[in-house]
Amino acid sequence: MLELENIHFTIQKGKEDIHLLEKVDLRVPTGHFMAIVGPSGCGKSTLLKLIAGLNQESEGSIHWNGRNLSEEGDLECSEIGYVPQFSIAYEELTVEENIESTVRLRAKTENRKEFEDLVDGILNSTGLDALRDRPVKVLSGGQKRRLSLALELSTDPVLLLCDEVTSGLDPKSEQDIVALMHELSRNEHRIVVNVTHSLANLDLYDSVLVLDAGRVVYHGPPRALEHYFSVSKAEDVYPQLSKRDKNAWADSWSKHRDAYYENLPAKNTGDPNVSVSAVTPSAAAQFFALFFRRWKIFFRDWGGLMLQASILLGFPFLVIVFELGGVEQTMRLADAAPGTKAAMEAEQEAITFNLNLGGVVSGLVMFQVILLTLMGSNNSSREIAGERQIFEKEKLGGVRPLVYLSSKLAFLSVLVIIQSLWMAIFVQSICKLPLESFLPHIIMLLLVNGAMTSICLGISSMAKTADQASLLSIYLVGFQLPLSGAVLALPDWAGWLTRPFISAYWSWAGSMDGMEKNYLRWIKEVTDTWLGPMWLCMLVLLAHVAIGLFIAYVGVKRPRWEH
Ligand SMILES: Nc1ncnc2c1ncn2[C@@H]1O[C@H](COP(=O)(O)OP(=O)(O)OP(=O)(O)O)[C@@H](O)[C@H]1O
Ligand SMILES: [Mg+2]
Repeated sequence: MLELENIHFTIQKGKEDIHLLEKVDLRVPTGHFMAIVGPSGCGKSTLLKLIAGLNQESEGSIHWNGRNLSEEGDLECSEIGYVPQFSIAYEELTVEENIESTVRLRAKTENRKEFEDLVDGILNSTGLDALRDRPVKVLSGGQKRRLSLALELSTDPVLLLCDEVTSGLDPKSEQDIVALMHELSRNEHRIVVNVTHSLANLDLYDSVLVLDAGRVVYHGPPRALEHYFSVSKAEDVYPQLSKRDKNAWADSWSKHRDAYYENLPAKNTGDPNVSVSAVTPSAAAQFFALFFRRWKIFFRDWGGLMLQASILLGFPFLVIVFELGGVEQTMRLADAAPGTKAAMEAEQEAITFNLNLGGVVSGLVMFQVILLTLMGSNNSSREIAGERQIFEKEKLGGVRPLVYLSSKLAFLSVLVIIQSLWMAIFVQSICKLPLESFLPHIIMLLLVNGAMTSICLGISSMAKTADQASLLSIYLVGFQLPLSGAVLALPDWAGWLTRPFISAYWSWAGSMDGMEKNYLRWIKEVTDTWLGPMWLCMLVLLAHVAIGLFIAYVGVKRPRWEH
């Protein structure tokens, strides 16, 4: 039995209190299928999120089989299935792969057979068996909703909460999905709640709850709805609601409420601890499920893959075309007898030549660095934001944010390592940068790519949408070159103000510090920018990586539901 007692939900806007739900009392026995209906904005989703534990009630209490959820803790994540309006599954994966992935993340199974049986059972009970090998992107709207429901069945939840899963469907598909939810509710330990705009297909529900501006104005059998609201068909209930104040409707309902609830099964039936397969898989199991799924999606997404490949191979080419013959030796000065005109001319020529070489070396490295920052932002800016709604639901289903972030880190590290090593080795083999030793340069390139990847991952975890994250990340890359000081020296004060934030500067400066001394002199002449020592550059870049990851962690912990 699910019971809500005197629930209020109030939010603050400025100084004003806005009451989104007031005095909500209701009781639903197990094995029951309930609809929550009401005009747009009346608080249906808010109520559903309260029951799911996504919103915290301001007043009142919620009980599950006699257990006070407000005091004794929410239901386990495996006990609740929450199906939001928009179907959220990986488009590149097949129906079966999506279900398998959810089972791996949310339900612990003992062996392969148990795992396969569970997946088959879910496919069968939701009528998706014939579509198991179909990629999600080609499914119809109704089939996608079916899949959304299927994904929630991996833990055999006691409470299945669906928000507008039928909206936008044609009447036949709507009917099919309502019938499926009805079937799923024919189970003595489960309650299925469906929020819907639609007043069609109400017959299949055991009860209908009507909300009007945050108040319950009816809860009872669908067949009594028309009589109660004095209308000839259910569709006329909304216009009827607008004829009286919500409190007047709520007062009328309070007079009938007790009679309805008295006929329900006795209070507190059901075992409060009837938790079914309520064991969330270990962190390691979740990590590998997420990590391998990410690679699978990576290789399925042809557009993305081609972009990665062309960036990986193409960008180093962009660098080497500037110095196909390799960096030349610096010219020695003042070999001729001093004072003669010829000697002065020779010296001038050598200076010009060396300055030019300094510019070339600095430019080549800066180009490597900038292209790696671009790769970094391309690696991660959409990584979390692009799948935020799926992640939110998986988090609700028991996926640990830290494990999720670790799987991203492992995936992105592979990209960063391949991109940076290839950039360093390819460019070095052609251009022969005058490095005292190759390793520090590699580390600088790894770190700048790592720093930008991790900062853009942070942005991705905070952004509202993937497009917003991409845009911010591209701006960040755009600022790297002008503010690095490698092309034009900034005024001193501006340099010190911006430098701490510019990863490209530190990577470039660190690499410059590792150049042969006879080149470094000319690089300094030509760039006129303060060059930090290599150890400091490494430290700052490591700090950028750490800050990015910290932001990403805060971002993934924070709930971010769209609907
Ligand atoms: N976090 C919030 N901050 C401010 N207002 C909110 C918040 N959440 C919900 N609301 C407001 O509360 C009201 C109820 O929202 P809710 O999403 O529950 O409506 P709904 O009945 O589900 O509507 P719809 O049928 O359009 O989905 C709306 O007016 C909405 O703008
Ligand atoms: Mg809603």
